[in-house]
Amino acid sequence: MAKVTVVGAGNVGATCANVLAFHEIADQVVMLDVKEGVSEGKAMDMMQTAQLLGFDTNLVGCTNDYARTAGSDVVVITSGMPRKPGMTREELIGVNAGIVKSVAGNILQYSPEAIIVVISNPMDTMTYLSLKSLGLPKNRILGMGGALDSSRFKYFLSQALGCNANEVEGMVIGGHGDTTMIPLARLATYKGIPVSTLLSAEKLDEVVKSTMVGGATLTKLLGTSAWYAPGAAGAFVVESIIRDQKKMIPSCVALDGEYGQNDICIGVPAIIGRNGVEKIVELELTADEKALFEQSAAAVRKTNAILKEINAL
Ligand code: LAC
Repeated sequence: MAKVTVVGAGNVGATCANVLAFHEIADQVVMLDVKEGVSEGKAMDMMQTAQLLGFDTNLVGCTNDYARTAGSDVVVITSGMPRKPGMTREELIGVNAGIVKSVAGNILQYSPEAIIVVISNPMDTMTYLSLKSLGLPKNRILGMGGALDSSRFKYFLSQALGCNANEVEGMVIGGHGDTTMIPLARLATYKGIPVSTLLSAEKLDEVVKSTMVGGATLTKLLGTSAWYAPGAAGAFVVESIIRDQKKMIPSCVALDGEYGQNDICIGVPAIIGRNGVEKIVELELTADEKALFEQSAAAVRKTNAILKEINAL
């Protein structure tokens, strides 16, 4: 019996819960929100699709009742404010740090063994804050940004190539920020063929740039943060944990010397299975990629430093 809790029943949390239920990734899904009735209503609405879509997952909603989340195997944290057009993810830190910290603390009280997947922004810093304030072993906490950014990268590559996105491979590492993410164009392939042999350098550069501002482009179009791909990316990570799939997913994880970094949570490829972060995969980066990674880590550290200024850590 696998149980998953999704905290925050906004667009991203509800989409994540919906994908988890529809694909029967967990037997039981609990949505929790601070707004009275919202998660109960969304859960009821989704359960009324069970007969139409043919799934058997038991999905319930509750208002701030952490006892209902007890014994969860995996907990997804989406709580906090989404960004508005023109805002960076980093600007959300003041509001979201307190929320994420208290949510993570409440969760652990009822699910002391849970693996925590962080979606709230700024995601790298929220993952770091949860890790530090909870004192969890580092395999039990990860941020989902890399799964989302890699999926966007593959989408933009498939558009440029005019091909099926499921036949494209590509990874995005680094921070989950408009200027910190690093789409690894050198390693992207279409059916094993390096995309660098199929697209011009200019076209590939365009794809990289579109990927980096993928979230901002959607925020501008929608007036708020995107939710279908972020929610599905969360569920994708949860599935690899619950089903012990051991997929290699670029994830925001705590580094302890890997990639020359310490005391930071940032995106790198990792094997994700029943124990959470089972292994960090160390890629051999080129000098240029290494320099980008170092810049990205420096930017993430700068945001992490704000946690001290606002007394969140
Ligand atoms: C995005 C938000 C969820 O990238 O960070 O759409």
